[in-house]
Amino acid sequence: MKQWAESLWRNKRLSLAEALEFPEPTKAAVVDTRTCRFPLPGAQLSVVDTFLQEAIKLRCSETLQTKKPRFTYPAEEQKPSAMEKWSLLGSTALVTGGTKGIGRGIVEEMGGLGAAIHTCSRNQSDLDASLQQWRSAGLKVTGSTCDVSSPADREKLMEEVKSTFDGKLNILVCNAGTGVVKPAVEQMAEDYKLVMSTNLDSSFHLSQLAHPLLKASGNGSIVLISSIGASIAVDGLSVYCASKGAVNQLTRSLACEWPRDNIRTNCVAPGSIKTPLLAMDDESLAMRRRRIPAGRIGEPEEVAALVAFLCMPGARYINGQVICADGGRTINGNI
Ligand SMILES: NC(=O)c1ccc[n+]([C@@H]2O[C@H](COP(=O)([O-])OP(=O)(O)OC[C@H]3O[C@@H](n4cnc5c(N)ncnc54)[C@H](OP(=O)(O)O)[C@@H]3O)[C@@H](O)[C@H]2O)c1
Repeated sequence: MKQWAESLWRNKRLSLAEALEFPEPTKAAVVDTRTCRFPLPGAQLSVVDTFLQEAIKLRCSETLQTKKPRFTYPAEEQKPSAMEKWSLLGSTALVTGGTKGIGRGIVEEMGGLGAAIHTCSRNQSDLDASLQQWRSAGLKVTGSTCDVSSPADREKLMEEVKSTFDGKLNILVCNAGTGVVKPAVEQMAEDYKLVMSTNLDSSFHLSQLAHPLLKASGNGSIVLISSIGASIAVDGLSVYCASKGAVNQLTRSLACEWPRDNIRTNCVAPGSIKTPLLAMDDESLAMRRRRIPAGRIGEPEEVAALVAFLCMPGARYINGQVICADGGRTINGNI
């Protein structure tokens, strides 16, 4: 007996004879089974509609039963050993903005854990000097100049990554970012464009461009770097904070769309970290410190350790999370 007819009969909505008389579900109904939505929600049901609903329920339950889990739990013999769980040995990574600050910390942390890394920045001489230092330290790092706010540069960068790593990339860290400190009324159109294109457009477009490479690796991980400014307001940083809020939400969207391609997406939101971007006078720094329960400004490697962890096999069930590395700044309700 045809499965849909059997379902109608078993559910006693129709007699066996009636059930057998019905034709196969229409194309429209089959299309709807993909989304598991009924074609006529809330409508008065005719017999044919009842039939279609039954057929759809059946198809949906079949789909659910046969759906493959996205992050498969490895069989005993394929489980990473304790060493492999906490290592990046054999992984390939693109880290943007690796010559200074947090990006540099990430390159060094991941390189030390065994990853081969490609990085970029806008300044050729800084990049050359950094590459030299990393090579002498025994790290596997290549690099190219790229302004991540430029779509053409982003495309060129991904071509370079593709040829460096033979079309397979395990890790993308979108770290390069910038801010323009001005009251909201003084932020100009060009300030807005610079901040949005550097922080948000680049995270989205680089993730899109990296998608085929991450998918080809069979085990991809994206980490977007946002900021605690995505969830608390910071004077003078309205556009910056908005761009980082969008990065947090982009994380959640990619985390739901791309697990089918074995790609996880997470986000790290640093608090105040000692880097050239945080350059400010001692009084302002002291004011910031007072609000941080840990009592100090963070170091780049303290953010880098979290980023590296999120890319390791040990973190394979962590997806779609925004995690702060802020010494407790965002949970502090004390003035
Ligand atoms: N430091 C903090 O307190 C803090 C707090 C929250 C969030 N963050 C976020 O953390 C990330 C890193 O910040 P950071 O403090 O390490 O910054 P940083 O010290 O200014 O370093 C930024 C790095 O990115 C590169 N870069 C900047 N703009 C670029 C562009 N358009 N294209 C390519 N490379 C670019 C810089 O090199 P070139 O200038 O030579 O290009 C440098 O290597 C940013 O997304 C930032 O928003 C930082």
